[in-house]
Amino acid sequence: MDGSAVADLKSIVAPLNFLVPMAEKPVAYNYEPPPGTPVRTGQSITHRVPIRDARPMIGQLSLDKEGFVLLHHQTAVTNFYDEEQIKSVYYPECVRVMQRATGAVRVVAFDHIVRNAAKAAIKGSGVKMPAKRVHNDYTAWSSPKRVRDLMGDQADALLKNRFAIVNLWRPIRGPLLESPLALCDAQSLEEENLIASDLKYPDRIGETYSVTYNPNQRYYYFPKMQADEAVLIRCFDSALDGPHRFSAHTGFDDPETPADAPPRESIEVRTLVFLPPDA
Ligand code: OGA
Ligand code: FE
Repeated sequence: MDGSAVADLKSIVAPLNFLVPMAEKPVAYNYEPPPGTPVRTGQSITHRVPIRDARPMIGQLSLDKEGFVLLHHQTAVTNFYDEEQIKSVYYPECVRVMQRATGAVRVVAFDHIVRNAAKAAIKGSGVKMPAKRVHNDYTAWSSPKRVRDLMGDQADALLKNRFAIVNLWRPIRGPLLESPLALCDAQSLEEENLIASDLKYPDRIGETYSVTYNPNQRYYYFPKMQADEAVLIRCFDSALDGPHRFSAHTGFDDPETPADAPPRESIEVRTLVFLPPDA
């Protein structure tokens, strides 16, 4: 799309939460931290940013450029709150979707999060709240690290070729009216706004990018997503240069959400996508 066509897209203005630049490396805990330790260090600042409706651009979007696409996908899963079904039915579906979308020689689904604000309050449910800070799930360090951690002996050989980390994000129920997902066009990201941040798990340390505000960043969303629609989010691509290797996303408060809208229910599955040697 050229500049004037992008400017014509319908857009809303919504508050997004960014990291305030800081001297130390930000740290967050993915579990209850020791007493007296904050769950997350660093301050966040809210900016009201235009978020454009990407539906008219669906045919032009690509994982290589914008870093996200919208696909139609009917799932056979009947209950996304059943971990067994997610692993046995949904993971293989996600693998097939990724293979088709990327031409990968191998795809490994390795992690997922179910989000529902109503259920997140129940301790031990494993269900989380929507994530309302702009971020990217993996960094230049943690992307190959995930491959090493998960692929054992095969990691060295796999890392010789191009690989990507791609999430498959979908509503569990549609139309999704509350806390939609905003996606930052990877081409509009600048390196200086990607802040490597520690993410502590009980047994390991991960690294994500927190994102600082830059008016050049372009945000999109897909209004009223249905349960047979899925967004692929390319978090990392080893073949691209600079900040375009990454992307950024966040759940947000949509000013158009009806007062009686049910809380958003969604699932995201993370996958390693190994591309052919010539890719
Ligand atoms: C993700 C993610 C946030 C949300 O899919 O990686 O950060 O609120 N999702 O769904
Ligand atoms: Fe994320």
